[in-house]
Amino acid sequence: MSLIKEIQRRKTFGIISHPDAGKTTLTEKLLLFGGAIQTAGAVKSNKIKKTTVSDFMEIEKQRGISVATSVMAFEYRGLKINILDTPGHQDFAEDTYRTLTAVDSAIVVIDVAKGVETQTEKLVNVCRMRSTPILIFINKLDREGKDAFILLDEIEQKLGIKVCPLSWPVGMGQTFKGVYNLYEKILVLFHPHGKAQEEDTIEIRDIASGELEKQVGEWPAKTLREEVNMVEEIYPPFDKNKYLGGALSPVFFGSAVNNFGVREMLDCFVDIAPTPRPREAAEREVQPTENKFSGFVFKIHANIDPHHRARIAFLRICSGVFERNKNYLHVRLGQQMRFATPTSFMADKKEVIDEAYPGDVVGLHDTGNFKIGDTLTEGEALHFKGIPSFSPEQFRYVENADPMKSKQLAKGLVQLMDEGVAQLFTKETNGRKIIGTVGALQFDVIQYRLKNEYGASCTYEPTNMHKACWVTCDDPKAFKEFQTRRAKDLARDKEGNLVYLAESAWSLKMAQENHPEVQFHFTSEMNGEVSAER
Ligand code: G4P
Repeated sequence: MSLIKEIQRRKTFGIISHPDAGKTTLTEKLLLFGGAIQTAGAVKSNKIKKTTVSDFMEIEKQRGISVATSVMAFEYRGLKINILDTPGHQDFAEDTYRTLTAVDSAIVVIDVAKGVETQTEKLVNVCRMRSTPILIFINKLDREGKDAFILLDEIEQKLGIKVCPLSWPVGMGQTFKGVYNLYEKILVLFHPHGKAQEEDTIEIRDIASGELEKQVGEWPAKTLREEVNMVEEIYPPFDKNKYLGGALSPVFFGSAVNNFGVREMLDCFVDIAPTPRPREAAEREVQPTENKFSGFVFKIHANIDPHHRARIAFLRICSGVFERNKNYLHVRLGQQMRFATPTSFMADKKEVIDEAYPGDVVGLHDTGNFKIGDTLTEGEALHFKGIPSFSPEQFRYVENADPMKSKQLAKGLVQLMDEGVAQLFTKETNGRKIIGTVGALQFDVIQYRLKNEYGASCTYEPTNMHKACWVTCDDPKAFKEFQTRRAKDLARDKEGNLVYLAESAWSLKMAQENHPEVQFHFTSEMNGEVSAER
């Protein structure tokens, strides 16, 4: 098959949600449709529910499971679908942010009763930064929840995206009768049946017909007709180009656990979702159809077996064909490298592959050569953009607890930071090291992994920091003055970029007011170039 045909048959996306909205359940149903798994329950949730130190073996086990389920590929209607898994736990949100840089679109799952939750808001913000097309699945219609119109308003307001319902619920909870597919104009009736594989459906082609009353009863039939009229009046017709530009999100209703409304959504998704899109590099835009291979590492996963420190680097192919055993340029190191055992992931199976195409993700065996954001090419020095570091929110000083193991500690810290577990800052005034993370759980993970994988011990000391932000300034004199006056609050990140560590929201505000020439950035790109504010 030609490169273009291979590209046209690929859809690479991520499913995002607040924990418990039903991401794992929906993923499983999609895999069942694709025939990638045969039984429900085969996809293990990689949720990390417990957060105490004694649960770390459990966390590590779960991390192990999530390696297998990091990428789940399946074939559906002649297409190759790649689902990139995103950790649900908020302390691993950075992992999710980075995974979103490797997808071409996203499906957002929302619990009908809970509506838009914090984690969903944050993740959709990241999608919006990159104009990633979003499709929304409202889940758990078999339970009582919010009125559909109110929920759609909430989505538009909280997520800042325009929506366009393509299916509409008939009742909810106890009175849930089914969904009307506005895209294909078919009514699909709901018969609760737990975890069965196949949908149990009756189709009504015309909702004006009296058949509707017979099937759902008088009152629900009347309500549906009225609501469908209102939907047609309120919402714009579906416009695929707007969706592809990230400006309009189609919405589906259903119940993932009952496998209801899932096939409608999947069929529409494969029709409209984008094929692999061009990627911005610092140098130029890279088209997937270019003959020369290029790709970037968006995730690094440690091996859970402490005796084998090798890691898996996840590479998203951006252009050309990736081939096993061919020499490629590791742009940051300026070295040629080849890979004897690149792996692809099919649901719960991993296998060595000979070739991979744009949109695919391959796992590369890594002995410490890769950092998140690294690029591989056939020779061109490309640096893909858009793999941001987010401003951390929790900080602690890190101290060496075993003077005999200081080298191990330094190495362990560097490697864990390369994996993107947390960020390391070095104070300008005294050289003390500070770890900054998005979630508190990360500190325990770091301590545990340093001990188990590197034989190093560390202790933490509290700091009174509130936020770290990258600072830049076009006026060298003003920047010098800022650096002199704020010396005690300044540090360098691991790339050497200057970072301002604010003690409180108030001190950040004061610094911004007193130094209007200085720009404060709340995200930075991993390749060292400070950019885009959040
Ligand atoms: P997550 O990955 O987004 O965190 O959510 P997950 O799929 O694990 O689902 C969270 C809980 O919601 C699960 O229940 C799951 O069975 C349930 N669920 C998913 N879809 C639906 C739905 O359409 N209707 C209803 N009523 N529940 C749904 P649990 O009790 O946490 O786990 P389990 O023991 O059922 O696996």
